[in-house]
Amino acid sequence: MEDLNRLEKEAKGEIAKTASDAVLTNIRTKWLGRKGRLTMVLRGLKDLPEEDRRRVGQEANRLKKTLEDLFEERRVEFREKERVAKEKRVDVTLPGRKMPIGHLHPLTRALREINSIFQSLGFSVVGGPEIETEWYNFDALNIPADHPARDMWDTFWLKTKDRKQKLLLRTHTSPVQIRYMKKHQPPFRIVIPGKVFRHEATDATHEMEFHQLEGLMVDKGISIAHFKHVIGHFFEKFFETKAKKIEVSLRPSFFPFTEPSFEVWISCIFCAPRATARRTSRKGCSVCKYSGGLEVAGAGMVHPTVFHNAGLNPKDVQGFAFGFGVERLVMMKYNIPDIRLFHSSDPRFLRQF
Ligand code: DAH
Repeated sequence: MEDLNRLEKEAKGEIAKTASDAVLTNIRTKWLGRKGRLTMVLRGLKDLPEEDRRRVGQEANRLKKTLEDLFEERRVEFREKERVAKEKRVDVTLPGRKMPIGHLHPLTRALREINSIFQSLGFSVVGGPEIETEWYNFDALNIPADHPARDMWDTFWLKTKDRKQKLLLRTHTSPVQIRYMKKHQPPFRIVIPGKVFRHEATDATHEMEFHQLEGLMVDKGISIAHFKHVIGHFFEKFFETKAKKIEVSLRPSFFPFTEPSFEVWISCIFCAPRATARRTSRKGCSVCKYSGGLEVAGAGMVHPTVFHNAGLNPKDVQGFAFGFGVERLVMMKYNIPDIRLFHSSDPRFLRQF
């Protein structure tokens, strides 16, 4: 019995120290194999005197069972370790995971696209300051301080105590017309894309900061016919209406810096009935609000006072000007329901472009 106790201690020690499945198998053979140490003990039982055989036999069999359990326990442990290690292993033959690549913002893309359409018509792209003086933003454009038309633009004024000129965040891109005309002699064709600012509450169609694109073409003998053609060509390219021809219609309007002035309407790019379809007809679609037409820009023939203020003689030259909201056009093109999405940085929105 004492021998059995010793064997048990020894065997348990060896099993505990074992570090791998292969070594474990060898040790198992050493103890429980055909010529294993415990097997030999069991085989020798028959040589024991009758009275001891039973006791020792029971004890030896218990030890055999104990060792078998221990071997099994450790075997499971090794298998599990191996499984985990395999899982963690790097399979160098797997294709790599692609890093997501960013892309240009839909507005940036639209602005580049718009510029290039106008460039193809011989227009140059020019810029101007986002902080403007009161004179360029209003007075030069024939909008004097006491004129009710000033209320068309909700202005962010900057604190300017010691300056002669009051400063503001430009409310439209039109002041760049003046800046450009003061420095250049006609003829010229320019577009002016840029940020503008309005002190307004935001909602699905209004932002305090958005983009406009201004256009100006000045030469001898420029007429509304020139304008209609240029703007029609632009919208056909921008909205990619391919087969369908876009119909442009001009409706009387008022801007202090143009005379005459008009709203520019195009036939709806989605349902495309005539642009002049009456609002009451139920033809059309939800984008044109069942009117068949879309208001897309403000425009007009440059007002003589504006030419004067820019140092040009209105008797010598004529010109057309126009301006539109860039976000608004992009929203129409892609059916975007809320202008605030542009600045939301929401990848679910941005990934679609
Ligand atoms: N500046 C105008 C606005 O912000 C848009 C506009 C209308 C620009 C008529 C023009 C124009 O050049 O001729 O609402």
